[in-house]
Amino acid sequence: MNRTILVTGGAGYIGSHTCVALLEAGYSVVVADDLRNSKEESLKRVEKITGKPVPLYPIDVSDEIALDRVFGQHHFDAVIHFAGLKAVGESVAEPLLYYRNNLNATISLLSCMLRHHVNVLVFSSSATVYRDITSPISEEQEKGCTNPYGWTKLMSEQIITDTVKTNPNLSAILLRYFNPIGAHDSGLIGEDPNGIPNNLLPYITKVAGGKLDKVHVFGNDYDTKDGTGVRDYIHVVDLANGHLAALDYAFSHTGTEAFNLGTGNGYSVLEVIDAYRKASGAEVPYVIDPRRPGDVAQNFANPKRAHDLLHWEAKRDIMNMCATSYHWQQLNPNGYEES
Ligand code: NAD
Ligand code: UFG
Repeated sequence: MNRTILVTGGAGYIGSHTCVALLEAGYSVVVADDLRNSKEESLKRVEKITGKPVPLYPIDVSDEIALDRVFGQHHFDAVIHFAGLKAVGESVAEPLLYYRNNLNATISLLSCMLRHHVNVLVFSSSATVYRDITSPISEEQEKGCTNPYGWTKLMSEQIITDTVKTNPNLSAILLRYFNPIGAHDSGLIGEDPNGIPNNLLPYITKVAGGKLDKVHVFGNDYDTKDGTGVRDYIHVVDLANGHLAALDYAFSHTGTEAFNLGTGNGYSVLEVIDAYRKASGAEVPYVIDPRRPGDVAQNFANPKRAHDLLHWEAKRDIMNMCATSYHWQQLNPNGYEES
């Protein structure tokens, strides 16, 4: 049976990789993305990789009238909801922008789903919803956030959970991602942040590609293996496949379930720099700077629930994450810009 999935935010980093996975698994996709943090070129590349069409509606998902029109033009079997703003620092500076966009998008989407009897939703949440960051982190651990971005994820989870409770035909999966990195093996799609990257891997990638001088390591006095921050980096292609597993599960269940998508392994900043050097053969100079406010020492997943119920696990290692990231950078030194 050919199923059609609405992918909100599908032109973005994780969305574009997930579109590839969906199309390769035999789904049809329709993307709703106003391109505020992405380029249409990413979807052209998805079409190139898969040889399949990716219709794009360049709408604001929180515009319910525009979104409803999209629902009126297709029969969707499920929605994967990536659309949202995601920069932690920006969310602290502009909280209303984040609450307005991320919450309204979720509410508008749920309203359209109910109106059009679309019963399956997979939502992009984040490990940032956990208050108690004692690692490994399991799904039951206490929730609470340190910034507005995180709250929009936790509040969206609550909005979805409450909506599912009163609509027993609905099935929602909340996927709490750890640190997605890497790129598709083709090097045609990857992460293309605007300006100077906030996150470690895009920053290292720009240093390795000669676009930035050196990596600034934020603190080497944490209580970790080498004093630098430890995170659970997960390959974006593994993450994309996690969405396929979540859809399979959602189609055969109702109610709301949350899953961590991580590898269960933690790597320090210095270990990642070292892996990147080895995987790329490039120089990656760095300096030790003070800690970045708000950072925790370590954060990695207990991914057992996803193993047990979704029958999914991350397969790619840190070397592959770094190698594919570098490959993307080499083929696209200016991201999607040049095309
Ligand atoms: P991204 O910015 O590359 O993709 C998000 C996409 O959503 C962009 O293409 C953007 O243009 C679009 N968008 C935003 N608001 C929109 C709106 N109102 N209407 C239509 N389109 C809109 O980000 P990503 O890294 O691919 O992240 C995807 C999702 O996963 C986000 O919800 C993010 O919060 C979540 N997430 C990401 C990470 C990460 O480290 N990348 C970690 C945890 C969770
Ligand atoms: N780091 C550096 N230098 C940099 C950037 C980061 O040393 O230039 C360090 C950080 O201090 C941290 C590690 O690299 O120890 C990873 O930092 P990232 O910014 O790449 O990722 P975070 O773990 O801070 O944040 C990610 C997502 C957020 C999400 C959070 C919690 O980007 O959206 O995980 O799940 F909220």
